[in-house]
Amino acid sequence: MPLLTNDSDQDWERFARTEPYFAVLTEPQYRGELSELDRAEFFRTGEQHVSEMLSIIRSRLHPDFAPARALDFGCGVGRLLIPLAARCRGVTGVDVSPAMLDEARRNCEAASVSNVRLILGDDKLSAIEGEFDFVHSYIVLQHIPVRRGERLVRELAGRLAPDGVGVFHVTYSRPHASSLRRLLYWARTRLPAAHWALNITRGRPARTPIMQVNRYSVTRLLDILSSEGCPEVHVRFTNHDGYRGVLLFARKEATPGL
Ligand SMILES: C[S@@+](CC[C@H](N)C(=O)[O-])C[C@H]1O[C@@H](n2cnc3c(N)ncnc32)[C@H](O)[C@@H]1O
Repeated sequence: MPLLTNDSDQDWERFARTEPYFAVLTEPQYRGELSELDRAEFFRTGEQHVSEMLSIIRSRLHPDFAPARALDFGCGVGRLLIPLAARCRGVTGVDVSPAMLDEARRNCEAASVSNVRLILGDDKLSAIEGEFDFVHSYIVLQHIPVRRGERLVRELAGRLAPDGVGVFHVTYSRPHASSLRRLLYWARTRLPAAHWALNITRGRPARTPIMQVNRYSVTRLLDILSSEGCPEVHVRFTNHDGYRGVLLFARKEATPGL
């Protein structure tokens, strides 16, 4: 059933204008203006994530992996762009929110990073040129309605260069949510009045958006990756506050069509 209360793109612009860091990592210390320490910790998590992704790729899929061109889809404020820029010749950051991109630009400048391009995304990735050795998307697709997200995964996998690696993170279930929680989420994402009423009872402006978390079919994604020329996929499970997910590490064939 379509979501009535959510246009995820508009919601993200709104999150970006109000709480960009908290919208990326929903932990209380990232609300509002960040202290020096919290800012450093925020970016340290990005460094750790990138280092972990590359180490998994090298140990499981591609021992010599050393990407020159990287694309981070849903780059937010640049948490992962800065560590990618330290390891790659050029990095492209894509986001649907202009305010996120502005913040990412400020963060790249502050870190003296000059090999990052920032691009406003659309569903066809129409402003993105060329191929990439590394295409990455983390804690992004879950916030995009599933059919749209699947088309984006196809587009992103299509931008992988021969022998390149894509990392796609999605959520697929939330098994231990109570029935009441499920009912409230269902109502809030389909019935605007229910969503507004709940916001008001929680002391928030009525139209504060809900951050949607969608459940993907891993099988359908594997089919997409296979049809986009990725014969090999490594899977890692994730769990964020009870939302179960997977990181799909897909290696593109070295010689297309073989
Ligand atoms: C939770 S944040 C994660 C940011 C970054 N990946 C990180 O881990 O630091 C999700 C990001 O995805 C972006 N996003 C949401 N929908 C998008 C879409 N359709 N296309 C591109 N970016 C999108 C949001 O604007 C936001 O910056």
